[in-house]
Amino acid sequence: MPKKEIRLNAGDPDCEAPQYAINEALMSIIQGGKNTHYPHHTDIPNKFAEAVVDYYKKFTGVEYDPKFVLPAAGSSAALYTALAAVLEKGDEVLMFSPYYMGHTSIFNGMGVKMKMVPLKEELGYHPEPEDIKKAVSKKTKAVLLCNPGNPTGTVFTKDECKVVGDVAVDNDLAIFADEIYLHFVYGDNKFTSVASLSDEYKERTLAIMSFSKTFSMTGWRLGYDIVPEKYIEKAKLVAGLTAPRPATFVFNAGIACLRGDFKYVEERRVEYEKRRNYFCKAVDDLGWPCHLFEGAFYAWFDATSTGMGSGEFLAKLKESQNVSLSPGDRFGADGFIRVPLVQPVPVLKEVVKCLGEFQKSL
Ligand SMILES: Cc1ncc(COP(=O)(O)O)c(C=O)c1O
Repeated sequence: MPKKEIRLNAGDPDCEAPQYAINEALMSIIQGGKNTHYPHHTDIPNKFAEAVVDYYKKFTGVEYDPKFVLPAAGSSAALYTALAAVLEKGDEVLMFSPYYMGHTSIFNGMGVKMKMVPLKEELGYHPEPEDIKKAVSKKTKAVLLCNPGNPTGTVFTKDECKVVGDVAVDNDLAIFADEIYLHFVYGDNKFTSVASLSDEYKERTLAIMSFSKTFSMTGWRLGYDIVPEKYIEKAKLVAGLTAPRPATFVFNAGIACLRGDFKYVEERRVEYEKRRNYFCKAVDDLGWPCHLFEGAFYAWFDATSTGMGSGEFLAKLKESQNVSLSPGDRFGADGFIRVPLVQPVPVLKEVVKCLGEFQKSL
């Protein structure tokens, strides 16, 4: 009998949105009226922006005016708004590699050149300050800091955030701060929002946020940017022309999340940490170095010792074990494999067993 398929390739959490968010959306639809009409003819987006700034202050320490919050139908739309508000074809952006391909695909589409700063395996996927400084050129317009990072889970230290902030100030760069995993940080690691470290950083930082991972709301499509004064008019123009807006009743669910008690989020964090502690060690024990990631929820292991590229490794794994994982070459590191830990430990145990059997067959 063929093995049952296990698919772990997308970062889509294995649970439902918090019940209070579901209730709020349902009640909003049942009540109708302003909850189900054009959002901009209601006060709902303003209430959402107020909830965002209160939330952001509580969890990052950064204070914003609600007028700088731009809601979007998911952070992918918010990302495009932020990037297009700052960059033009031919500009250069600094970013860290391995990277999230959702970032590189937008840059590619915009004709923006990417300068990669390596996150080295031997340094636990942290950057060397000199590498950041020397990557800047005359064409560099911005730096993208995905913190915690996808796929490496890097939680940038306060000092690393300072290096990024100083490089941005010294070279007049914008900072794109994709902080969508900020709640998912493990062990002794501490999240720092780069904008919290100085006003000079804050006035050039465009924050990109999402409900997808924090509240397991990937299909609800809710995210936002917080854009500094310098870029707000252009960002509004871009968002108005291109970015899909959230549905009115989804705003209400979002407000319930941001004003909630965050018990749900902490439970998710604890669950992801448990999965991380099991899975990374188990894969590492197989002899494929698997980084005990600091944040987000992706295991990232080094299979270069097999001599296979990520694509070949995964095609053979799928053929022999019926397990699908994500190929590291899509994140800039061929021979590496990313595993979103969006299944409970018993399923992850099965994946480890399959990896072990696959390894023996090589
Ligand atoms: C770092 C990062 N940013 C943005 C996104 C996009 O999320 P969404 O469009 O669902 O808000 C993802 C999704 O995996 C991600 O990992």
